[in-house]
Amino acid sequence: MAVKIAVIGCGAVGSSFLYSAIHQNLAAEYGLIDYNEELAQGQVLDLEDSSLYFDSSPRLKVIKNYQELVSYDFVVITAGRPQKEGETRLEMIRDNAKIIKKIAEDVRDSGFQGIVLICSNPVDVLTYVFQRVSSFKFKRVLGSGTVLDSSRLKVELSKGLGVTPSSISGAFILGEHGDSSLVTFSNIKVAGLTVNRCEDNHYPNSPFCCSDYEEKLEQVVSHKAYEIIKRKRATHYGIGAALAQILKSIIFDKQEVLPVSVLLNGEYGLSQVVLGAPSIVGKYGVEKIVEMKLSQKEMDKLHRSAQILKSNIDSIRE
Ligand code: 2OP
Repeated sequence: MAVKIAVIGCGAVGSSFLYSAIHQNLAAEYGLIDYNEELAQGQVLDLEDSSLYFDSSPRLKVIKNYQELVSYDFVVITAGRPQKEGETRLEMIRDNAKIIKKIAEDVRDSGFQGIVLICSNPVDVLTYVFQRVSSFKFKRVLGSGTVLDSSRLKVELSKGLGVTPSSISGAFILGEHGDSSLVTFSNIKVAGLTVNRCEDNHYPNSPFCCSDYEEKLEQVVSHKAYEIIKRKRATHYGIGAALAQILKSIIFDKQEVLPVSVLLNGEYGLSQVVLGAPSIVGKYGVEKIVEMKLSQKEMDKLHRSAQILKSNIDSIRE
């Protein structure tokens, strides 16, 4: 089936996603929507030049009317104002909730029947908003959640352990894609060895042996975006590639376990909240939420993160 992906928001993040998707041959057609149509047209012209180098020849076009979405399989939403230096993602909620509500209405009214993937921040809250406004089933409205955060965690662990990220299992960031996220430290293993108990690991000088390593990891991961924004005003390559990974798992029905933003309905003792939780992602979108065995400390942090997200959702209810 010739896959068609529409992207709403063609700035740095949207174009980084498109570049990564074209590089991986994810779709036969990409439709670009942006309130700045000139920008969308410019991205089409630039990206079509790149596709030749990736042995990929997708159709690229500017979508001028939302009604065209009815023929697309996926809508990727990156629209919204970017995070300012030092600003938290939750502080963007008012501005971006308005934008997402309007987009949700337009996508719903277009007759679109496919899967929606959102990364606009604060992504967990905006995924919930899109689900509520569109009335789409929650499994076909995903947020990028803590997929990027979990990749950042593996980068840090890889440096600390001296092993490649793919040899590290059970390493997830859960909860808010933001300051209240947590590390599933008690589950992290290398070759079946948990790394949070010194006597288990064969790394006598490992940083894991210092008692506050868990908190240090959480700090490094949750502050990485701030460090990047301080230096280059925005992050986009990491999130662009994370969006492509999520869509790849859907398009090729890979059933990957990814911590996307999902609506919990009793899992982890939580309901009516959207946050980053490990989920099996396949052709129908979120196919199953996986309940990891968390330590009491981790579970308490997850519930605190959920409470923060719920209070922010309440703050924008009209
Ligand atoms: C990131 O974490 C800013 O949410 C974006 O890169």
